[in-house]
Amino acid sequence: MPIATGIEVLAKAHEGNYAVGAFNFNNLETLQAILEAAEELDAPVIVETSEGAIHYAGAEMLYEMVEVLARKVSIPVVIHLDHGKDFNIIMAALRAGYTSIMIDASSFPFEENVRQTKRVVEIAHAMGVSVEAELGTLKGIEDNVSVDERDATLIHPDQAVTFIQETGIDYLAPAVGTSHGAFKYKGESKIDYERLKEVKRRTGIPLVLHGASGVPASLVEKAEKFGAKLAGAKGVSDEVLKEAVACGINKVNTDTDLRIATVGAIREVLAEHPDEIDPRKILGPARAAMKEVVKRRIGLLGSAGKANL
Ligand code: G3H
Ligand code: 13P
Ligand code: ZN
Repeated sequence: MPIATGIEVLAKAHEGNYAVGAFNFNNLETLQAILEAAEELDAPVIVETSEGAIHYAGAEMLYEMVEVLARKVSIPVVIHLDHGKDFNIIMAALRAGYTSIMIDASSFPFEENVRQTKRVVEIAHAMGVSVEAELGTLKGIEDNVSVDERDATLIHPDQAVTFIQETGIDYLAPAVGTSHGAFKYKGESKIDYERLKEVKRRTGIPLVLHGASGVPASLVEKAEKFGAKLAGAKGVSDEVLKEAVACGINKVNTDTDLRIATVGAIREVLAEHPDEIDPRKILGPARAAMKEVVKRRIGLLGSAGKANL
C-alpha cells in the first residue's frame, strides 16, 4: 500500500478507542521485523526514526526503505519523525517524504513551544503531513515525589487546550508519568490516569504515549544471561499500558523493548557460536526476536485486525 499519513490512522484509532503501535527503527532488520509483525496481525503501524537515526542512516535512505517494504504489505504504514528538535532535520524529513512529524519543543517555556510548533505545523500541513507535539516533561512517577513536584513535570489540561488552539497540531504527547529508556521506575509503573482522561476529554484529539516500553523480565533475563548489564531495568506493565489506552492513548511509542530483544539475541548467537562471522546469522535471530516483541505489543494495543477500518 502507499504510505499513509499519521492523522489517517490515528483519527480511526481515536474513534475506535484503540492505539496504533509506533516503533523506532535505524536499520533494515528492525523495519522488516515491524512490518512483518504488523502485516501478520493485519494492524496499521507507524515506523518512526529519531534524529539520531537520520544522522546514522540518512532521511532519504530510511524513507526509501519504508517505501519499498510498504508496497509489499496490505496494511497502512506511516513514516514518522520522532522528537524532531532541529529545524533542519525536520525539513530533511519532510523533503524525504515523511508523512508524520513530531516537533518536540517541550523543553522550552510554553510560549516558545507554541511558537516553534506552530511554525512546523504551517509548513507540514501545507505539504499534507500531520504533526505531533509534546507538553510537559517525561519523568516516571515516584512514590516519594510531592504533589507539587509531580505537577511541575506533568501536562496541564488547560494548557493542552490552549496549545492545540494556538498551534493546530493533529495529535498530542502528554507527559503523564512515563519516561524513555530501560530504567523508568524504582517501584511499580504508574501513570496519572485522571490527568490523562481529563486531557482526552478536554482536547478530543488523538494522544500519544512516549516511554511506553514494557521492559519485559523475560527479555531482560535473556540479555543478562548472555552478559548484558541491566540490573534495575523496569518498564510500563501490560496492565498500565492497557489502562492508558482505555483512557485515550492512540499512539504508543516503543524503542527500548526492541533494543533489549536485539542485544539478547545477538549476545546469544555470539556466545553460543563464537565461530560465526556471517552478519545474517547474527542479525537474523535479532530480527525474529524483534518481530515477537512487535506482535505482542500490537496485541496489547487493540489495533490487530484494524488495517482496513
Ligand atoms: O525517544 C527516543 C528513542 O528511543 C530514540 O532514541 O535518539 O537514541 O535514537 P535515539
Ligand atoms: P521507550 O524508551 O520506552 O521505548 O520509548 C520510546 C519513545 O518514546 C520514542 O519516542
Ligand atoms: Zn519519545
